[in-house]
Amino acid sequence: MSSSLAINGPRLLDQLKRLADIGRTPTNACCRLALTDDDKLGRDLVVRWMKELGMAVTVDPVGNIFGVRTGTQPDLAPIMTGSHIDTVRTGGAYDGNYGVLAGLEVVATLNDAKQNTKRSLVVGVFTNEEGARFAPDMLGSLVYVGGMPLKEALDVKAIDGARLGDELVRIGYDGAAAIGVHKPHAFIELHIEQGPILDIEGVKIGAVENLQGISWQELTIVGQSNHAGTTPMYLRHDAGYAASAIATFVRELTRKMGGHQVGTIGKVDLVPNLINVIAARATMTVDLRNTDEHLLQQAELALDEFIKELAQSEGVTITSRRLARFEPVNFDAALADRIAHHAEALGLSQRRMTSGAGHDAQMLARICPSAMIFVPSVGGISHNPAEHTEPEDLIAGANVLLATLTELAN
Ligand code: GLV
Ligand code: MN
Ligand code: MN
Repeated sequence: MSSSLAINGPRLLDQLKRLADIGRTPTNACCRLALTDDDKLGRDLVVRWMKELGMAVTVDPVGNIFGVRTGTQPDLAPIMTGSHIDTVRTGGAYDGNYGVLAGLEVVATLNDAKQNTKRSLVVGVFTNEEGARFAPDMLGSLVYVGGMPLKEALDVKAIDGARLGDELVRIGYDGAAAIGVHKPHAFIELHIEQGPILDIEGVKIGAVENLQGISWQELTIVGQSNHAGTTPMYLRHDAGYAASAIATFVRELTRKMGGHQVGTIGKVDLVPNLINVIAARATMTVDLRNTDEHLLQQAELALDEFIKELAQSEGVTITSRRLARFEPVNFDAALADRIAHHAEALGLSQRRMTSGAGHDAQMLARICPSAMIFVPSVGGISHNPAEHTEPEDLIAGANVLLATLTELAN
């Protein structure tokens, strides 16, 4: 039915640019942290585009937005696509945004061709996928699939102290639709790879079959501030030193474990953060990921043991607060096959792959068959203003999405 259809590339690229212009910083980054004023402006624009496409728009109480293009058999469970439009503070133009706007482009293409689908098509925009302002990441889709109670989500505090529920009200996205209102028959998320594999191998499409587990914690180290010049080394309880020892340990651990183990210390705050004062307190985050749950647990355990020894030897207290913990996810193999099939039918090289990043699709996989389509990220750069995907690759990925969604919906 849709084999001859192709998306309108210039229209997709133009919309990507217009969305990226919202929250653009002087250093050309995209900064739309979840539920900020700029996130609201981005949401408003996407909702306007949904309405212009004739979609019915619903917003749920955690701020997830859904645009629905009703099928000829609306009693059947819909096919859902989508992603997120929140960004990290120093984000690029495509992370998340591409999956949402390509979903709208699929709808626009079907509208232009006056083609109906049997099942309705839903484009979802999930709240706070990044987890950069509120933890955990993928919060909106997690609530959507019943993995976190709404009340708990609304009470989450931002890194700037704001309460998530209050921010939703403030920007006008505390919707009334029931949580989980559109239960999908299948979910497909199109995303940039954000890693180097497709780019290095010169492959155009990734059919994503699994996604690695994520362990996030915040460590608070309390020592004693004292004079940097007068305090003998053996009398110190240095929270700054302890934080660096943990960072070094995490890097060493990943080197020893090898394989898919990665570890990142992305945020460290010292108090009082002065040149001649031993730090009294350090707050730091640890992000550990592995495709293998057992190995991820081993990494967590090794870190726990190191922290206990360090607390003793340095005479500091170290407490941990869990920010996120998601096991590795296997996507639906048959859907990954369909993605690979459509890529090849369009003359695009493809390979099966693993996602290193977290995505809303990993949450949707709890309630329906789900899979992802990746396109190359030049140089494997993401969460960085330099994030780039060649326009022809963005268009190719959207065409694979079009073919996959129309097949599933018919
Ligand atoms: C979300 O983007 C993550 O993988 O950190
Ligand atoms: Mn993303
Ligand atoms: Mn991201």
